[in-house]
Amino acid sequence: MRILVTGGAGYIGTHALVEVLAAGHEAWVVDNLGNSRPAALDRVRQLSNRDFGFTRADLRDTEAVRAVVARFRPEAVIHFAGLKAVGESVADPLGYFDNNVAGSLSLLRALAESDCRRFVFSSSATVYGDPDYLPLDEAHPTRVSSPYGRTKLQAEEILRDLAGSDPAWSIAVLRYFNPVGAHPSGRIGEDPAGFPNNLMPFITQVAVGRRPALNVFGTDYDTPDGTGVRDYIHVTDLARAHLAAVDWTAGEEAGRGWEAFNLGTGRGTSVLELARAFGEAAGREIPLVLAPRRPGDVATCYADPGKALRELGWRAELGIAEMCASSWHWQSSNPEGYPGEEGGERTAA
Ligand code: NAD
Ligand code: WQD
Repeated sequence: MRILVTGGAGYIGTHALVEVLAAGHEAWVVDNLGNSRPAALDRVRQLSNRDFGFTRADLRDTEAVRAVVARFRPEAVIHFAGLKAVGESVADPLGYFDNNVAGSLSLLRALAESDCRRFVFSSSATVYGDPDYLPLDEAHPTRVSSPYGRTKLQAEEILRDLAGSDPAWSIAVLRYFNPVGAHPSGRIGEDPAGFPNNLMPFITQVAVGRRPALNVFGTDYDTPDGTGVRDYIHVTDLARAHLAAVDWTAGEEAGRGWEAFNLGTGRGTSVLELARAFGEAAGREIPLVLAPRRPGDVATCYADPGKALRELGWRAELGIAEMCASSWHWQSSNPEGYPGEEGGERTAA
């Protein structure tokens, strides 16, 4: 099958691309390299021993997207491209709505003019906000507390309306919990520009000596050890879920409409547990600094991933030990991240 992958040079996109190519599909990546580097795509080519198309373009450039769609004639799209930093979205809401919502609209407009009606979207567990109950299932009310979260929810709603307008659409909305880890080769992984916002890349940068210690944000939560609990999911498991979702979009005779799926393991892990597990995997202890809560954080968040198992036939296979070992393998083999020139507007630490 021909699969268009937006944001394919990014963290999750590169891992999904490896799986897409390994499954024998043809791929074409559209990415503006605003938060990624060309080296990431070179590494995917080496790992897969396969080639794929690449167009460096911004999704808001509808003409450029139209040209790719006309040339490649995708049968399905996996839409990863987006900005994802919660704090940055608070400082620059217009930039986030423009990139994530207008970018998605532009892509959908180009697709709607083609025959392609199979679409897989990267959403986030952030759309659930502070949980009313746990584990979070897809029926949990959505509520967002940041512009970033609102861009994801608005894109979900646009997609739902689109599916309502034409029964040929099959749209899988994938709500990721906390993606971590790297490809087992250590050749591709998460390479944040500047100060890492998320826990695992911060831990790996401490382990490799780029940062002195991990700040543990909050030790007085109502959790077993007082630190925040999250559902960490290995990026390889997450990548495989996209293949299952693309298969699901094939549907029967008509389209499948719009469905949301949680992608998590169903298990919660605290900050202290993750830091300890990483220390064991890397053979070095992570120095900790106990710090106040980070504004906007919830105490506990984990998925009920049952719907993905029932309807996509997918479940997470890899545990915390593999997440930590692969993250360490990537970071220790690439202490400064990907080599080579900057792709775009990434800012240095
Ligand atoms: P990433 O920043 O590594 O990858 C995103 C890619 O999209 C980058 O290569 C970037 O250059 C590209 N891009 C962004 N805006 C674009 C535009 N307008 N036009 C073309 N390319 C553009 O992020 P990631 O972690 O791989 O996340 C992928 C998707 O998954 C995002 O939509 C993100 O919101 C979502 N998501 C991520 C997480 C997470 O924790 N990593 C969790 C939930 C959801
Ligand atoms: C995890 C835990 C922190 C950093 C975010 C987004 C969400 C989604 C995934 C995109 C929390 C603690 C963190 C540090 C710490 N992204 N922590 N020290 O906040 O669950 O989710 O990423 O969609 O939308 O909000 O992930 O990795 O930032 O934090 O103690 O230096 O680690 O307080 O308990 P989060 P995270």
